[in-house]
Amino acid sequence: MKKSIPLFVITLAVALFFNGKKYDELVSSRLSSSIGVCLEGQSCGQATAMNVVTAAGSRSAESIYTTGCAACHDGGIAGAPMMGNKSQWEARQAKGYEMLVNNAYNGINGMPAKGLCVDCTKEEIDLAVQYMLDSI
Ligand code: HEC
Repeated sequence: MKKSIPLFVITLAVALFFNGKKYDELVSSRLSSSIGVCLEGQSCGQATAMNVVTAAGSRSAESIYTTGCAACHDGGIAGAPMMGNKSQWEARQAKGYEMLVNNAYNGINGMPAKGLCVDCTKEEIDLAVQYMLDSI
């Protein structure tokens, strides 16, 4: 009987940690971030609608980031430097700000040109890069 108590506690702890709800939340949060992967012109929900409404130069840094960059940079997808992660960004800042904007605009490795903001101007990409650097 005594031996079964720690086992029970461990089982309970595991059940609390990995219960179904938590797993569901994890899955749904991953799924919701994929909404940002929709490209403009496709009918894939709110992200696209926001792009259309705010198109052509009137977008804020935050909205460009949210619709065009967050899908990868929020969670560090494919090695993307994460929003708010000082050490990941500092290593890249060593290249110089200009270079970072150029690479975001033209693409580099897993970073597609302009991210998911297919109609972004270079100035808008600049705003989004600045927005990410402001977060660290
Ligand atoms: C599909 C995923 C994805 C999206 C969307 C995305 N990025 Fe990236 N980004 C990456 C990855 C992966 C890297 C790391 C590339 C590498 O250096 O290997 C990266 C790197 C970067 C870098 C660093 C470049 C360098 O020279 O080190 C900047 C700046 C950047 N992204 C800006 C942006 C901006 C601005 C947006 C939105 C307009 C954006 N990214 C959208 C995946 C993405």
